[in-house]
Amino acid sequence: MKYFQLPQTNLNVSRIALGCMRIADKSVDEVDDLIKTALDAGINFFDHADIYGGGKSEKVFGEVLKRHPDYRQKMIIQTKCAIVPGQRYDFSKEHILKSVDDSLMRLNTDYVDILLLHRPDALCDPKEVAEAFDELYEAGKVKYFGVSNHTPLQIELLQKYSKYPIIINQLQLSIVHSVMIDSGLNMNMKEAWAQDKDGGVLDYCRLKDITIQPWSVVQASWAEGTFLDNPDYQKLNDVMQALADEYHVTKSAIAVAWLLRHPACMQPIVGTTSPQHLLESVKACDVELTRQQWYDLYLASEKPLP
Ligand SMILES: NC(=O)c1ccc[n+]([C@@H]2O[C@H](COP(=O)([O-])OP(=O)(O)OC[C@H]3O[C@@H](n4cnc5c(N)ncnc54)[C@H](OP(=O)(O)O)[C@@H]3O)[C@@H](O)[C@H]2O)c1
Repeated sequence: MKYFQLPQTNLNVSRIALGCMRIADKSVDEVDDLIKTALDAGINFFDHADIYGGGKSEKVFGEVLKRHPDYRQKMIIQTKCAIVPGQRYDFSKEHILKSVDDSLMRLNTDYVDILLLHRPDALCDPKEVAEAFDELYEAGKVKYFGVSNHTPLQIELLQKYSKYPIIINQLQLSIVHSVMIDSGLNMNMKEAWAQDKDGGVLDYCRLKDITIQPWSVVQASWAEGTFLDNPDYQKLNDVMQALADEYHVTKSAIAVAWLLRHPACMQPIVGTTSPQHLLESVKACDVELTRQQWYDLYLASEKPLP
Protein backbone atom coordinates (compact mmCIF):
# COMPACT_ATOMS: atom_id res chain seq x y z
CA MET A 1 0.00 0.00 0.00
CA LYS A 2 1.09 3.55 -0.63
CA TYR A 3 0.15 6.49 1.58
CA PHE A 4 -0.11 10.26 1.26
CA GLN A 5 -0.60 13.19 3.56
CA LEU A 6 -4.19 14.26 3.05
CA PRO A 7 -3.86 17.95 2.13
CA GLN A 8 -5.02 20.45 4.77
CA THR A 9 -4.90 17.74 7.49
CA ASN A 10 -2.43 15.84 9.64
CA LEU A 11 -3.83 12.51 8.38
CA ASN A 12 -1.57 10.02 6.62
CA VAL A 13 -3.99 8.02 4.51
CA SER A 14 -3.83 4.98 2.25
CA ARG A 15 -4.01 5.75 -1.49
CA ILE A 16 -6.99 3.38 -1.70
CA ALA A 17 -10.00 3.53 0.64
CA LEU A 18 -12.62 0.88 1.33
CA GLY A 19 -16.20 1.95 0.59
CA CYS A 20 -18.74 0.37 2.92
CA MET A 21 -21.97 1.07 1.03
CA ARG A 22 -22.58 -2.56 0.09
CA ILE A 23 -21.77 -4.32 3.39
CA ALA A 24 -25.24 -3.77 4.88
CA ASP A 25 -26.48 -7.32 4.36
CA LYS A 26 -23.22 -9.06 5.22
CA SER A 27 -22.82 -10.89 8.52
CA VAL A 28 -20.58 -9.54 11.28
CA ASP A 29 -18.14 -12.39 10.53
CA GLU A 30 -18.02 -11.49 6.82
CA VAL A 31 -17.44 -7.80 7.55
CA ASP A 32 -14.85 -8.71 10.18
CA ASP A 33 -13.01 -10.69 7.50
CA LEU A 34 -13.27 -7.82 4.99
CA ILE A 35 -11.99 -5.24 7.48
CA LYS A 36 -9.12 -7.48 8.59
CA THR A 37 -8.17 -8.03 4.94
CA ALA A 38 -8.24 -4.27 4.37
CA LEU A 39 -6.14 -3.44 7.43
CA ASP A 40 -3.65 -6.22 6.65
CA ALA A 41 -3.34 -4.83 3.11
CA GLY A 42 -2.55 -1.40 4.57
CA ILE A 43 -5.90 0.30 3.98
CA ASN A 44 -6.56 2.70 6.85
CA PHE A 45 -9.45 4.70 5.34
CA PHE A 46 -13.10 3.59 5.49
CA ASP A 47 -15.97 5.43 3.81
CA HIS A 48 -19.54 5.32 5.14
CA ALA A 49 -22.82 7.24 4.94
CA ASP A 50 -25.77 7.36 7.29
CA ILE A 51 -28.04 6.03 4.52
CA TYR A 52 -26.02 3.00 3.41
CA GLY A 53 -28.36 0.07 3.91
CA GLY A 54 -30.62 2.41 5.90
CA GLY A 55 -27.91 2.55 8.60
CA LYS A 56 -27.13 -1.17 8.48
CA SER A 57 -23.68 -0.66 6.92
CA GLU A 58 -22.52 1.53 9.81
CA LYS A 59 -24.16 -0.83 12.30
CA VAL A 60 -22.41 -4.00 11.12
CA PHE A 61 -19.10 -2.10 10.90
CA GLY A 62 -19.69 -0.91 14.48
CA GLU A 63 -20.24 -4.51 15.58
CA VAL A 64 -16.79 -5.36 14.26
CA LEU A 65 -15.32 -2.38 16.15
CA LYS A 66 -17.00 -3.67 19.30
CA ARG A 67 -15.23 -7.00 18.78
CA HIS A 68 -11.89 -5.32 18.06
CA PRO A 69 -11.66 -2.03 19.99
CA ASP A 70 -7.98 -1.77 18.99
CA TYR A 71 -9.02 -1.31 15.33
CA ARG A 72 -10.40 2.21 15.89
CA GLN A 73 -7.00 3.85 16.39
CA LYS A 74 -5.73 2.27 13.16
CA MET A 75 -8.64 3.67 11.16
CA ILE A 76 -9.67 6.91 9.56
CA ILE A 77 -13.45 6.77 9.43
CA GLN A 78 -15.42 9.06 7.16
CA THR A 79 -19.20 9.24 7.03
CA LYS A 80 -21.75 11.38 5.21
CA CYS A 81 -25.08 12.96 5.96
CA ALA A 82 -27.85 15.06 4.40
CA ILE A 83 -29.59 12.65 2.04
CA VAL A 84 -32.98 11.76 3.49
CA PRO A 85 -34.44 8.86 1.50
CA GLY A 86 -37.96 9.59 0.30
CA GLN A 87 -37.64 13.28 1.17
CA ARG A 88 -34.30 14.28 -0.34
CA TYR A 89 -31.69 16.72 0.96
CA ASP A 90 -31.38 18.38 4.36
CA PHE A 91 -28.48 20.68 5.32
CA SER A 92 -30.31 22.03 8.37
CA LYS A 93 -28.26 22.22 11.54
CA GLU A 94 -30.76 20.06 13.36
CA HIS A 95 -30.54 17.29 10.76
CA ILE A 96 -26.73 17.35 10.49
CA LEU A 97 -26.26 17.14 14.27
CA LYS A 98 -28.79 14.35 14.66
CA SER A 99 -27.36 12.39 11.75
CA VAL A 100 -23.83 12.49 13.21
CA ASP A 101 -25.07 11.40 16.65
CA ASP A 102 -26.89 8.46 15.06
CA SER A 103 -23.84 7.49 12.98
CA LEU A 104 -21.56 7.60 16.03
CA MET A 105 -23.93 5.33 17.91
CA ARG A 106 -24.14 2.82 15.05
CA LEU A 107 -20.37 2.88 14.44
CA ASN A 108 -19.59 2.40 18.14
CA THR A 109 -17.20 5.32 18.16
CA ASP A 110 -17.22 8.74 19.78
CA TYR A 111 -15.84 10.61 16.76
CA VAL A 112 -15.53 10.38 13.00
CA ASP A 113 -12.41 11.72 11.35
CA ILE A 114 -14.26 13.27 8.43
CA LEU A 115 -17.88 14.24 7.78
CA LEU A 116 -19.08 14.84 4.21
CA LEU A 117 -22.26 16.55 3.04
CA HIS A 118 -23.49 13.83 0.69
CA ARG A 119 -25.29 15.79 -2.07
CA PRO A 120 -26.12 19.48 -2.50
CA ASP A 121 -29.28 20.79 -0.83
CA ALA A 122 -31.06 23.47 -2.89
CA LEU A 123 -32.21 25.02 0.40
CA CYS A 124 -28.67 25.11 1.86
CA ASP A 125 -28.09 27.98 4.28
CA PRO A 126 -24.30 28.06 4.55
CA LYS A 127 -24.39 29.96 7.88
CA GLU A 128 -26.46 27.20 9.41
CA VAL A 129 -24.09 24.54 8.04
CA ALA A 130 -21.16 26.47 9.54
CA GLU A 131 -22.88 26.50 12.92
CA ALA A 132 -23.40 22.74 12.72
CA PHE A 133 -19.71 22.24 11.82
CA ASP A 134 -18.66 24.44 14.78
CA GLU A 135 -20.75 22.46 17.20
CA LEU A 136 -19.54 19.09 15.90
CA TYR A 137 -15.89 20.14 15.95
CA GLU A 138 -16.06 21.69 19.39
CA ALA A 139 -17.79 18.60 20.80
CA GLY A 140 -14.94 16.49 19.38
CA LYS A 141 -17.37 14.48 17.26
CA VAL A 142 -15.87 15.41 13.85
CA LYS A 143 -12.25 16.35 13.09
CA TYR A 144 -12.51 17.44 9.43
CA PHE A 145 -15.25 18.38 6.97
CA GLY A 146 -15.82 17.79 3.28
CA VAL A 147 -18.46 17.35 0.62
CA SER A 148 -19.55 14.93 -2.05
CA ASN A 149 -20.95 15.67 -5.52
CA HIS A 150 -20.47 19.44 -5.08
CA THR A 151 -19.62 22.09 -7.69
CA PRO A 152 -16.84 24.62 -7.06
CA LEU A 153 -19.29 27.44 -6.38
CA GLN A 154 -21.30 25.33 -3.94
CA ILE A 155 -18.05 24.68 -2.08
CA GLU A 156 -17.12 28.38 -2.18
CA LEU A 157 -20.48 29.25 -0.67
CA LEU A 158 -20.00 26.82 2.22
CA GLN A 159 -16.43 27.96 2.67
CA LYS A 160 -17.44 31.62 2.91
CA TYR A 161 -19.02 30.90 6.30
CA SER A 162 -17.17 27.84 7.63
CA LYS A 163 -13.86 28.36 9.43
CA TYR A 164 -12.96 24.74 8.70
CA PRO A 165 -11.55 23.92 5.26
CA ILE A 166 -13.46 21.64 2.92
CA ILE A 167 -10.84 18.93 2.45
CA ILE A 168 -12.66 16.30 0.33
CA ASN A 169 -14.98 16.25 -2.67
CA GLN A 170 -16.17 12.70 -3.34
CA LEU A 171 -17.22 12.41 -6.99
CA GLN A 172 -18.22 9.73 -9.48
CA LEU A 173 -15.18 9.03 -11.64
CA SER A 174 -13.95 6.00 -13.57
CA ILE A 175 -12.54 5.23 -17.00
CA VAL A 176 -16.08 5.12 -18.38
CA HIS A 177 -17.59 7.91 -16.27
CA SER A 178 -15.11 10.74 -16.67
CA VAL A 179 -17.24 13.83 -17.24
CA MET A 180 -14.89 16.10 -15.27
CA ILE A 181 -11.96 15.03 -17.49
CA ASP A 182 -13.87 14.94 -20.81
CA SER A 183 -14.91 18.59 -20.77
CA GLY A 184 -11.38 19.86 -20.17
CA LEU A 185 -9.96 17.68 -22.94
CA ASN A 186 -12.61 18.85 -25.41
CA MET A 187 -12.45 22.51 -24.48
CA ASN A 188 -13.67 24.88 -27.20
CA MET A 189 -15.23 22.08 -29.31
CA LYS A 190 -18.86 21.97 -30.48
CA GLU A 191 -19.46 18.35 -29.42
CA ALA A 192 -21.38 17.40 -26.28
CA TRP A 193 -18.17 16.09 -24.70
CA ALA A 194 -17.02 19.71 -24.41
CA GLN A 195 -19.93 20.64 -22.16
CA ASP A 196 -18.75 21.64 -18.70
CA LYS A 197 -21.31 20.04 -16.43
CA ASP A 198 -19.55 20.51 -13.13
CA GLY A 199 -18.00 23.98 -13.14
CA GLY A 200 -14.45 22.77 -13.73
CA VAL A 201 -14.47 20.75 -10.52
CA LEU A 202 -11.31 18.82 -11.26
CA ASP A 203 -9.09 21.86 -11.70
CA TYR A 204 -10.84 23.70 -8.88
CA CYS A 205 -10.16 20.89 -6.41
CA ARG A 206 -6.52 20.76 -7.48
CA LEU A 207 -6.16 24.52 -7.06
CA LYS A 208 -7.72 24.40 -3.58
CA ASP A 209 -5.96 21.25 -2.31
CA ILE A 210 -9.29 19.46 -2.02
CA THR A 211 -8.80 15.72 -2.44
CA ILE A 212 -11.06 14.05 -4.99
CA GLN A 213 -12.32 10.64 -3.92
CA PRO A 214 -13.58 8.79 -7.00
CA TRP A 215 -16.62 6.59 -6.35
CA SER A 216 -17.92 3.69 -8.49
CA VAL A 217 -14.46 3.01 -9.88
CA VAL A 218 -15.50 -0.16 -11.77
CA GLN A 219 -19.25 0.45 -11.91
CA ALA A 220 -20.57 1.57 -15.31
CA SER A 221 -23.93 2.60 -13.87
CA TRP A 222 -26.58 1.30 -11.50
CA ALA A 223 -28.46 -0.25 -14.43
CA GLU A 224 -25.44 -1.82 -16.17
CA GLY A 225 -23.40 -3.04 -13.20
CA THR A 226 -19.62 -3.08 -13.61
CA PHE A 227 -17.79 -2.56 -16.87
CA LEU A 228 -15.45 -5.46 -16.00
CA ASP A 229 -16.14 -8.37 -18.42
CA ASN A 230 -19.13 -6.41 -19.70
CA PRO A 231 -19.64 -7.05 -23.46
CA ASP A 232 -20.89 -3.47 -23.89
CA TYR A 233 -17.32 -2.38 -23.06
CA GLN A 234 -15.45 -4.99 -25.10
CA LYS A 235 -12.76 -2.70 -26.48
CA LEU A 236 -12.01 -1.33 -23.03
CA ASN A 237 -11.88 -4.84 -21.56
CA ASP A 238 -9.43 -5.89 -24.29
CA VAL A 239 -7.09 -2.99 -23.49
CA MET A 240 -7.46 -3.55 -19.73
CA GLN A 241 -6.70 -7.26 -20.17
CA ALA A 242 -3.55 -6.58 -22.20
CA LEU A 243 -2.30 -4.20 -19.48
CA ALA A 244 -3.35 -6.60 -16.73
CA ASP A 245 -1.24 -9.30 -18.40
CA GLU A 246 1.68 -6.92 -18.75
CA TYR A 247 1.61 -5.86 -15.08
CA HIS A 248 0.53 -9.29 -13.72
CA VAL A 249 -2.59 -7.90 -12.09
CA THR A 250 -6.35 -8.07 -12.75
CA LYS A 251 -8.40 -5.69 -14.87
CA SER A 252 -9.89 -4.20 -11.71
CA ALA A 253 -6.40 -3.15 -10.62
CA ILE A 254 -5.85 -1.48 -14.00
CA ALA A 255 -9.12 0.44 -13.56
CA VAL A 256 -7.95 1.72 -10.17
CA ALA A 257 -4.42 2.38 -11.45
CA TRP A 258 -5.95 4.65 -14.13
CA LEU A 259 -7.25 6.87 -11.31
CA LEU A 260 -4.05 6.70 -9.26
CA ARG A 261 -2.04 7.77 -12.34
CA HIS A 262 -3.80 11.14 -12.42
CA PRO A 263 -1.51 13.77 -10.87
CA ALA A 264 -4.35 15.21 -8.74
CA CYS A 265 -3.46 12.52 -6.15
CA MET A 266 -6.98 11.20 -5.91
CA GLN A 267 -8.05 8.60 -3.35
CA PRO A 268 -10.25 5.98 -5.07
CA ILE A 269 -12.99 4.43 -2.91
CA VAL A 270 -13.19 0.74 -3.75
CA GLY A 271 -16.65 -0.65 -2.98
CA THR A 272 -16.12 -4.39 -3.05
CA THR A 273 -17.49 -6.68 -0.35
CA SER A 274 -15.14 -9.49 -1.36
CA PRO A 275 -11.77 -9.81 0.38
CA GLN A 276 -10.38 -11.44 -2.79
CA HIS A 277 -11.56 -8.58 -5.03
CA LEU A 278 -10.17 -6.09 -2.52
CA LEU A 279 -6.71 -7.67 -2.64
CA GLU A 280 -6.87 -7.60 -6.45
CA SER A 281 -7.77 -3.88 -6.48
CA VAL A 282 -5.02 -3.02 -4.00
CA LYS A 283 -2.45 -4.30 -6.53
CA ALA A 284 -3.16 -1.07 -8.42
CA CYS A 285 -0.59 0.54 -6.13
CA ASP A 286 2.13 -1.55 -7.82
CA VAL A 287 1.16 -0.31 -11.29
CA GLU A 288 2.48 2.94 -12.73
CA LEU A 289 0.73 3.38 -16.07
CA THR A 290 2.62 5.26 -18.75
CA ARG A 291 1.09 8.40 -20.21
CA GLN A 292 0.26 6.47 -23.39
CA GLN A 293 -1.36 3.61 -21.49
CA TRP A 294 -3.52 6.11 -19.61
CA TYR A 295 -4.71 7.61 -22.92
CA ASP A 296 -5.14 4.15 -24.50
CA LEU A 297 -7.60 3.28 -21.71
CA TYR A 298 -9.40 6.59 -22.10
CA LEU A 299 -9.80 6.10 -25.86
CA ALA A 300 -10.82 2.43 -25.44
CA SER A 301 -13.90 3.61 -23.56
CA GLU A 302 -15.05 5.07 -26.90
CA LYS A 303 -14.59 8.73 -26.02
CA PRO A 304 -13.36 11.00 -28.80
CA LEU A 305 -10.46 13.40 -28.50
CA PRO A 306 -10.00 16.45 -30.72
N1 LIG B 1 -20.66 9.93 -2.64
C1 LIG B 1 -21.55 9.27 -3.35
O1 LIG B 1 -22.54 9.82 -3.85
C2 LIG B 1 -21.34 7.79 -3.54
C3 LIG B 1 -22.18 7.05 -4.39
C4 LIG B 1 -21.94 5.67 -4.52
C5 LIG B 1 -20.88 5.08 -3.84
N2 LIG B 1 -20.09 5.83 -3.00
C6 LIG B 1 -18.95 5.23 -2.25
O2 LIG B 1 -18.11 4.59 -3.18
C7 LIG B 1 -17.96 3.22 -2.82
C8 LIG B 1 -17.84 2.40 -4.07
O3 LIG B 1 -18.99 2.52 -4.86
P1 LIG B 1 -19.59 1.29 -5.68
O4 LIG B 1 -19.69 0.13 -4.79
O5 LIG B 1 -20.78 1.77 -6.41
O6 LIG B 1 -18.48 1.07 -6.79
P2 LIG B 1 -17.36 -0.01 -7.15
O7 LIG B 1 -16.23 0.03 -6.22
O8 LIG B 1 -17.09 0.31 -8.58
O9 LIG B 1 -18.06 -1.43 -6.99
C9 LIG B 1 -19.15 -1.78 -7.79
C10 LIG B 1 -19.30 -3.27 -7.88
O10 LIG B 1 -18.14 -3.79 -8.49
C11 LIG B 1 -17.74 -4.98 -7.86
N3 LIG B 1 -16.27 -4.92 -7.69
C12 LIG B 1 -15.57 -4.01 -6.99
N4 LIG B 1 -14.26 -4.28 -7.03
C13 LIG B 1 -14.14 -5.39 -7.78
C14 LIG B 1 -13.03 -6.16 -8.19
N5 LIG B 1 -11.80 -5.88 -7.80
N6 LIG B 1 -13.27 -7.24 -8.97
C15 LIG B 1 -14.53 -7.56 -9.34
N7 LIG B 1 -15.62 -6.87 -8.97
C16 LIG B 1 -15.42 -5.79 -8.21
C17 LIG B 1 -18.38 -5.03 -6.50
O11 LIG B 1 -18.93 -6.32 -6.27
P3 LIG B 1 -18.23 -7.36 -5.24
O12 LIG B 1 -18.66 -6.93 -3.87
O13 LIG B 1 -18.78 -8.66 -5.65
O14 LIG B 1 -16.76 -7.27 -5.44
C18 LIG B 1 -19.44 -3.94 -6.52
O15 LIG B 1 -20.75 -4.46 -6.43
C19 LIG B 1 -19.18 2.90 -1.96
O16 LIG B 1 -18.96 1.81 -1.08
C20 LIG B 1 -19.37 4.18 -1.21
O17 LIG B 1 -18.47 4.21 -0.13
C21 LIG B 1 -20.31 7.17 -2.86
